[in-house]
Amino acid sequence: MSLPKDFLFGFATAAYQIEGSPTAGGRTPSVWDTFSHLPGKVADGTTGDVACDHYTRWRDDIALLKSYGANAYRFSVSWSRVIDFSNASKASVGTRDPRNEEGIKFYRAIAEECVRLGIKPAITLFHWDTPQALEDRYGGWRRREIVGDFVHYAKVCFEAFGDLVKHWITLNEPWCYSALGHAYGVHAPGRTSDRTKSPEGNTAVEPYVVGHNLILGHAYAVKAYRDLFAPTQKGSIGVTLDALAYLPYDDTPGSESAAQRAMDARTGWFADPIYKGHYPASLTSLSGGVLPSFTEEEIRVVKGSSDFLGLNTYTSNLIQDGGNDPYNGKTKGGFVRPDGSELGFKSHVGWLQAYPEGFRKLLNYLWKTYQTPIFVTENGFPVKDETSLPIEQAIHDTNRIRYFEGYTQALLDAINEDGVVVKSYFAWSLLDNFEWADGYLTRFGVTYVNYKTQQRYPKDSAKWLKEWFEKNHQKL
Ligand code: NOJ
Repeated sequence: MSLPKDFLFGFATAAYQIEGSPTAGGRTPSVWDTFSHLPGKVADGTTGDVACDHYTRWRDDIALLKSYGANAYRFSVSWSRVIDFSNASKASVGTRDPRNEEGIKFYRAIAEECVRLGIKPAITLFHWDTPQALEDRYGGWRRREIVGDFVHYAKVCFEAFGDLVKHWITLNEPWCYSALGHAYGVHAPGRTSDRTKSPEGNTAVEPYVVGHNLILGHAYAVKAYRDLFAPTQKGSIGVTLDALAYLPYDDTPGSESAAQRAMDARTGWFADPIYKGHYPASLTSLSGGVLPSFTEEEIRVVKGSSDFLGLNTYTSNLIQDGGNDPYNGKTKGGFVRPDGSELGFKSHVGWLQAYPEGFRKLLNYLWKTYQTPIFVTENGFPVKDETSLPIEQAIHDTNRIRYFEGYTQALLDAINEDGVVVKSYFAWSLLDNFEWADGYLTRFGVTYVNYKTQQRYPKDSAKWLKEWFEKNHQKL
């Protein structure tokens, strides 16, 4: 059992979840700053204003990565740190807002430190923090205009960091941004307006318009990289999608086709256009003919616009027919088998049960369906924040270790026994952090963060993963 020599092993984070310092160095708000400050949107009433104070403690955090044996680090850049929107209110649609050198300096320092320590930096350009200025200017991802702004921002990043960064991820989990942010309203920008017309008068329901523009933003950013930067910088670029292993609840044909529909509605929505050049047929019919369409020219840019498939995955789901939610393929999902047994072992959050066999199946499915190398860009296990639990105990995260034991074994089996090409494994997350609508109540880190003192405490899982990688990685 082994991992290839060029395999990337490390940890992932995202800007808004860890950085804090929302106005430092000329940064302006993103939709998540706005949303988290609205009463009732985040479970514990918190925001990312301080988070893990990574903005000032980044060097120590990279030292942690090194001590955990990582050879790669996936982090995201905050769009409104590296682009200057301070005069945005006077700007009109089509303005290309200037670079913010201070923001660029911050991320360059991180990338340089990583490289110095032998850690390959992998940058995510969009991890949900749309600049509020663009949301105000024209409606953010609801409008096609954002594609030009996203490409402008992406080019600034390629130019500023591309000598150091050879792995690029355009978007993180566009399903979440489209559905959680524009249909269910539980994530920023908090819209529940899926039946309204888009501002362009497009009759497609809003989350599909948002998803469509995200796909175009991704594809045109990739085109810019390939045309202008890849020939000299020699990096690779792709998208990260979220996927679950959707398993038929029973062996009836209804459950079989429901499982496929759920897969199409969540992952195929983005993966099919990007890898195959069209939306999944089931999505077209489910959405009642309101899916936007690509022009011939757009399709040429979209199809094949990813060098790999970035995969964030945490759980599996048993699927049967029924339900009315198009964003789940009008299916019902659960964790209880027909005989009453539970699928996997539970976490405290309702959406996540550990079922490693599902991970192995998912890797096989994605490899067979899209025939492109897979980069696992997130995988991990949450525990509930218990203030009464002493830190000395909280760092013994046996459930998380149990999760990683199962999932890393499934990964090795998929690679070595099934022949799936997997190029990375990034655990989520380096640090406990701001878990979006859950605030600080859910801890995903392999490092415990005491939010009062900002002290970091490595958990047992960090050590476990380090040893796992050392044991299984082919040495040069
Ligand atoms: C996926 C997201 O990319 C990340 O930001 C989030 O914290 C984890 N899942 C855990 O929910």
